[in-house]
Amino acid sequence: MGNETIQSTLTENRLFPPPAAFSRGASIDDGQRLEHLCSEASRDPASFWARHAQEEITWHKPFSSALDRSRAPHFAWFADGELNISFNCLDRHLARRGDKTAIIWHGDRGETRHLSYREIHGEVCRLANAMRARGIQPGDRVVIYLPMVPEAVIAMQACARIGAIHSVVFGGFSAEALRDRIEDAQARLLITADGGHRAGKIIELKRAADRALDHGCASIESVIVLARTGHGVPMKEGRDEWWHAVVAAMPAHCEPTWVGAEHPLFLLYTSGSTGKPKGIQHSTGGYLLGAIVTCKWVFDLTESDVFWCTADVGWVTGHSYVAYGPLALGATEVMYEGTPTYPHGGRFWELCERHGVTIFYTAPTAIRALMKLGDDIPTQFDLSKIRLLGTVGEPINPEAWMWYYIHVGKERCPIVDTWWQTETGSIMVSPVPGVTALKPGSCARPLPGIVAGIVDEAGNDIAAPDQGGYLVIKEPWPSMVRTIWGDDQRFKDTYFRRFGDSLYVTGDSARRDADGYYWIMGRVDDVLNVAGHRLGTMEIESALVAHARVAEAAVVGRPDELTGEAVVAFVVLKGQRPAGDERVALAKELRGWVTEQIGAIARPADIRFSDNLPKTRSGKIMRRLIRAIARGEEITQDTSTLENEAILDQLREKQ
Ligand code: WT7
Repeated sequence: MGNETIQSTLTENRLFPPPAAFSRGASIDDGQRLEHLCSEASRDPASFWARHAQEEITWHKPFSSALDRSRAPHFAWFADGELNISFNCLDRHLARRGDKTAIIWHGDRGETRHLSYREIHGEVCRLANAMRARGIQPGDRVVIYLPMVPEAVIAMQACARIGAIHSVVFGGFSAEALRDRIEDAQARLLITADGGHRAGKIIELKRAADRALDHGCASIESVIVLARTGHGVPMKEGRDEWWHAVVAAMPAHCEPTWVGAEHPLFLLYTSGSTGKPKGIQHSTGGYLLGAIVTCKWVFDLTESDVFWCTADVGWVTGHSYVAYGPLALGATEVMYEGTPTYPHGGRFWELCERHGVTIFYTAPTAIRALMKLGDDIPTQFDLSKIRLLGTVGEPINPEAWMWYYIHVGKERCPIVDTWWQTETGSIMVSPVPGVTALKPGSCARPLPGIVAGIVDEAGNDIAAPDQGGYLVIKEPWPSMVRTIWGDDQRFKDTYFRRFGDSLYVTGDSARRDADGYYWIMGRVDDVLNVAGHRLGTMEIESALVAHARVAEAAVVGRPDELTGEAVVAFVVLKGQRPAGDERVALAKELRGWVTEQIGAIARPADIRFSDNLPKTRSGKIMRRLIRAIARGEEITQDTSTLENEAILDQLREKQ
């Protein structure tokens, strides 16, 4: 691990005890209750989780054993139990609260829809029947490429209902990214929309899907297209069908397919440090349990809450805290199609007021963007119903934390800074809001049943406070990743090789302070975190070199006030290094190219051209050197092995 990940620059001494008014009504309302859960978990983790699995999940067939370690690092939870997630999220509420609003949807253009549990159940059943009628079998993969509309959740739930494995691809990803994911998953069915509305523009989902399917994706047999924008898109005879047409004749009843607890619920592709994105495979029973207990412990979520998680369903946050957790608990949730600042900078707060949001969960990058617009914006809205705030995706800087606390929470709402990953399935380290005293910038302590640790290069525990090291998880937990789709070796190598079969490697570095609070320090590998989302540098580099004029590329991150990290690309061209206007034009072209290849989220903020990239004798790109240059830092590395010192000046040049 490089020095830069070990040194900690944050010293934060403020402490905010839980507001008494919050604690009084919370389900975990005092330290003793939390302590009790933690000690129950540490005495016998497997029976702790088994007790919760029995209490929280409706099983079709009960399980007889909680945890099977015999195939470590493949851990199986509740393996002989049978259930259906869609049954747990929908059917079990019908008798008591079928007409309760499950989803309040707010469109980009200001329109709203209220969908009850019964309505969602009916739509899920219709689509599930339609998929069955098209031959989709349990275990088949279905790729979902939709905007943030209720149908995205309905499609996910419909897959779960028939045991199909969904793989949601974020609507902001390009045709190429979609194609790669469809091909890796060998999906049979694609569910998409004519388009989506975002910040007043139309996102051309169907056209992107067509481009993906025109250049591969032979496994796709049919495409179901939701009419969202109605702006007219080509439909391919024999392959494409409109959603409303396929569900029209289908009954609103569909017998769920009961699956084993280990049956894969979904794949979700996430960036790794090298190579193509990894299809993170999650289970059914353990995953659902993780989503449910964290909704209770971290969000204190109850039936009477209006929960709003702003994440897109294309990310894991939108799986656990939009598509599954809140519905399993019978809550009401808000789903929003648009962006935080369109048509005005108070949009989030306007929606909180209008829909009576009680729990609000978003990303630090959004908070920083809204903070920039001024303190007077949130004061224009009635935020008095909000009782709890949350963040996820990257470390939150104390300034942004304080702004959120004061101007949104009015100093009455705890903030839960939740650390977790696509691979962990649910929140792992977080304050428990009725109990934990908060430190701005710290995600506090591991939740009950989560055995986290910080270890050195050799895998030994670092006990001393404030010493940075590798963040690891030492015991299996129910919602953990099961494998990487189609590449089990990579699963073992990525998560369980460095310190053996029993320590899950998170890829993050962290320190623990004298009070046992965790402070995440960033990734240890070459993975950037842009706006709360992981991007593999390799992926962006391979997109760049796929451009006809690019010979070589190296991508690093530099800190960015708004997005956490920004992408900086160092590019070596085939032929001459461009100058003047040509350089500006080419930089622009390459930015557009990366956007096309991967999506706008990966667009380089800076592109620098040089004749060469600095490499070690063994030919490895000197990333730390490049990173220092990208950040405008002084170079402390030994550069004597460089063939041509002059390239350092080239690399420093901004376009
Ligand atoms: C990586 C996981 C989990 C959903 C969103 C991202 C970083 C996440 C925090 C936090 C500091 C955080 C980590 C982690 N991260 N939450 N509260 N504080 N860092 O999911 O794309 O799988 O990324 O995001 O680096 O490893 P993901």
